[in-house]
Amino acid sequence: MEKQELAAAIRQLCREKNAIIMAHYYQRAEIQDVADFIGDSLALAQQAAKTEADIIVMCGVHFMAETAKILCPDKKVLIPDPTAGCSLADSCRAEDLAAWRAEHPDHLVVSYVNTSAAVKALTDVVVTSSNALKIVNRLPEDRKILFGPDQNLGRYISEMTGREMALWNGACHVHSRFSVEALIALRKENPGVKVLAHPECKQVILNLSDVIGSTQALLNHVKQHPEEKRYIIATESGILHEMQKACPEAEFLPVPPEMTEGVGCHCNECEYMRQNTLEKLYACLSDETNEVIVSADLAAKALAPIQKMLNLS
Ligand code: 13P
Ligand code: SF4
Repeated sequence: MEKQELAAAIRQLCREKNAIIMAHYYQRAEIQDVADFIGDSLALAQQAAKTEADIIVMCGVHFMAETAKILCPDKKVLIPDPTAGCSLADSCRAEDLAAWRAEHPDHLVVSYVNTSAAVKALTDVVVTSSNALKIVNRLPEDRKILFGPDQNLGRYISEMTGREMALWNGACHVHSRFSVEALIALRKENPGVKVLAHPECKQVILNLSDVIGSTQALLNHVKQHPEEKRYIIATESGILHEMQKACPEAEFLPVPPEMTEGVGCHCNECEYMRQNTLEKLYACLSDETNEVIVSADLAAKALAPIQKMLNLS
């Protein structure tokens, strides 16, 4: 089937099955275009919590679909490619977090949403890049904090809130590979052009940036400043699709990744996010396959810190 035909068939299936398609901003453009709702990690969780659809197709990586399932245990949650993982979430195994937590019994555990359900179950409060600042600011001042798994986000939140935090040694392989030299060169070639960066980037990149924020915050900045005609972008390149749609006249210059001779790629794409395709989306919705299952016991334990996040957001 041609892409357009496929998209029409997917929309038809959504009507027939009372299904909703939710997509993260890092999804392929054709998936964003067919989705009912596009959002960052926080918005996807909020939307899942309130949808009245019977089926949620989560076009994102596995932890996003798992979070939706935990929030909506009675709904069928499908993911086009169930092997779409996240290097950051994978860097934090539940048994290792349990050991870290046991070494610091007086600390609150704050976990980024990019974690497995088993890690969330060991967490006091979940955060996303959209609400981490607000939530950490609201934690009791006398409590020490363990923050994981993204050390770059954790360091940034610690700096912004003045809260001392012990950080897990994890990072997103996409956001931590932007080239500092390339960014310095781009700034030099484009004087006065704002640099927009995601807080999962390394400190050295954030120090060279004008606006630091979640995927949604960066998009909002672009929408709120139609007068700006050019931006330098340090985050996953999937967001450029929505940015370009919002400001068709503006030019977006992605910061390239560091390259080791013959290793890595020249793009800023998260290969896990790109595992979902229109074909896989059609197949999983049509056959209702790739259902995400979370045991009731685990879901109950993981729900509490997610719900706490939603209440504090
Ligand atoms: P946000 O959607 O919270 O901006 O996070 C980006 C990300 O890396 C998702 O995996
Ligand atoms: Fe995980 Fe990074 Fe991909 Fe987001 S961009 S899903 S944090 S690997």
